[in-house]
Amino acid sequence: MLSFILNQRAVLTDERPGMVLLEFIRGVACLSGTKEACREGECGACAVLVGARQADGSVAYKACPSCLLPIGDVDGCHIVTVEGLIGEPLTLVQQLIVDSSASQCGFCTPGIVLSLTGFCLGSSALSYEDAVDALDGNICRCTGYVSIRNAARALCERLAEVDADPSEWLSALVAAGVVPEYFRAIPDQLAQLRTDPQPPAKDAVLVAGGTDLFAQRPEQLLESDLCFLSSRCDLDYVHADGEMLRVGGAVTIEDFRRSAAVQRHFPGVAHDLLRHSSTLLRNKATLTGNIVNASPIGDAAIILLALDARLVIVDPGGAKREVPLSKFFLGYKKTDLACGDLLSEIVIPLLPVGARYHFEKVSNRATLDIAAVNTALRLTTGPDGAITGIILSAGGVGPIPLLISGLEVFYGRKPDTETVDALAKAAEAAAKPIDDIRGAAAYKKLLLGQLVRAQFAALAAAGEAV
Ligand SMILES: Cc1cc2nc3c(=O)[nH]c(=O)nc-3n(C[C@H](O)[C@H](O)[C@H](O)COP(=O)(O)OP(=O)(O)OC[C@H]3O[C@@H](n4cnc5c(N)ncnc54)[C@H](O)[C@@H]3O)c2cc1C
Ligand code: FES
Ligand code: FES
Repeated sequence: MLSFILNQRAVLTDERPGMVLLEFIRGVACLSGTKEACREGECGACAVLVGARQADGSVAYKACPSCLLPIGDVDGCHIVTVEGLIGEPLTLVQQLIVDSSASQCGFCTPGIVLSLTGFCLGSSALSYEDAVDALDGNICRCTGYVSIRNAARALCERLAEVDADPSEWLSALVAAGVVPEYFRAIPDQLAQLRTDPQPPAKDAVLVAGGTDLFAQRPEQLLESDLCFLSSRCDLDYVHADGEMLRVGGAVTIEDFRRSAAVQRHFPGVAHDLLRHSSTLLRNKATLTGNIVNASPIGDAAIILLALDARLVIVDPGGAKREVPLSKFFLGYKKTDLACGDLLSEIVIPLLPVGARYHFEKVSNRATLDIAAVNTALRLTTGPDGAITGIILSAGGVGPIPLLISGLEVFYGRKPDTETVDALAKAAEAAAKPIDDIRGAAAYKKLLLGQLVRAQFAALAAAGEAV
């Protein structure tokens, strides 16, 4: 049996753990405020809040797409749908959407309300820019984004007036009318919830964020035994350790991005990962899922390749081995992972002295879109400005995330126009793209060359290279 709190009601259910929450909310709990549209994580109409109990007893809320979220993954959690925010008066977010005329047909509105409410719950330091980012997974077809953003701006202005200690933030949000009063009692109610976690079956499918798995084969997963990585607190960490950043195998992309260690040592990566899917997706999607799915255009895989990351893999018997990410991809969707292996940790060397990093991605849409081509660069130069190291990765130009080899010939040269042009040509020569929906092979080859030039130009503009 699975148990969770849905709005104000404790739920005990024997539905299959692989049933997606959207199905449960609409079909079993008969709550129709959560909308169903794409069922692929693309539109945000199905967004709900997932509140998970933390080690200190508090509850951390995140907005997630319920269409890709299996109910087995919310065992012991608090789920909030738009019905869980309804009351008299409207919540502050709802009222500001009304005041800003930010809803027309209203189909997207519950998802937008939940995303903005999740944004408020996520931090006590709220900026308009972050509010806009929080909405990057919510598509609206008829209102127009200006009025939605106006509501977000008004929300940030109103909450800027709230003076509360971060530890009192939930109470402050209740007082400000962002969430209803009953939220205060949820931590205690979750503590009393009877959960009955079963050990996963031997051949259970490992689900990290599930954003790939449940977009691709939800029917099959409904019948499968599943093992949820989100219950592995021991794999949920990001910390710097000497010259390395260590990232546990269950860390979501959004938690990675926002972690103090990444903000400090890799602020550029934190920013670039905003180009990965959307906030709603990143709240569930993990770095390990992005690596193991072996997509040739995985953004995190491309970034981590350039950062010279290594993977710690644990076999079912508990034996550990370490594999450089550059040796992990063996062929199209083939990896160096045997059946039952767990990718338990990602180890990223901190940038050595003289090293800079840059990432470029071209996709049809700025957010919520897979790349046509993406590429990351780690460039190291000596005191005289000459190149002492280059790691260049490229996605969308071959069957695997590509690490471009043979660039040692550029060591000792200054990254001037001639060198950069030769490097771009070397990257083009290494690329073996195919024609597909994201572009013709010839286009992708040329694009990679241009992106390499753009990377060096960006580093030069930042005064960091050349
Ligand atoms: C709407 C949408 C937009 C997207 N946009 C992007 C994008 O912009 N850029 C991008 O790169 N990707 C994108 N993706 C793809 C996907 O979200 C990412 O690849 C994501 O990081 C996958 O992580 P996950 O945790 O959800 O993986 P899951 O779906 O949970 O797992 C994927 C695979 O990895 C295995 N796995 C996961 N973790 C481990 C582990 N620790 N050890 C062993 N095996 C493991 C699982 O068993 C499964 O086979 C998008 C997907 C959707 C639906
Ligand atoms: S229905 Fe579109 S994101 Fe879930
Ligand atoms: S109000 Fe109609 S889709 Fe947004």
